[in-house]
Amino acid sequence: MGIRKISHIGIAVRDLDQQVAFYQDKLGLELLGFEEVKDQHVKVAIFKVGESNIELLTPTSPESPIAKFLDKRGEGIHHLAYDSDGLEALLGTLEEKGVDLIDKKPRPGAHGARIAFLHPRSTFGVLTELCE
Ligand code: CO
Repeated sequence: MGIRKISHIGIAVRDLDQQVAFYQDKLGLELLGFEEVKDQHVKVAIFKVGESNIELLTPTSPESPIAKFLDKRGEGIHHLAYDSDGLEALLGTLEEKGVDLIDKKPRPGAHGARIAFLHPRSTFGVLTELCE
């Protein structure tokens, strides 16, 4: 049980095509593909960087949490995600240690992963996602 490596960094963007062109053509990163996460109202472009990914997130509707983030904070880094083992047990341990959980139980995320978010008020402003 525990955190193993960085899974991905999520970046909130307004214009997905423009940003995909930047990461692909200017930074030279490998585009793995696109995915739509319907219940979060987001479209995601996924780039590979070694063992980790960069995920560009753009809202597909105004109810999207990413739309709210863009309104409040503008474009930029939205969350940091770690790959973990034993996610249920890890969440239990974190709760015992007084960490505020947005998700008490794992829920389905992109590409078949199970995910849970920790609240930024107990992670010093970093929205933190745990994946398994
Ligand atoms: Co994520």
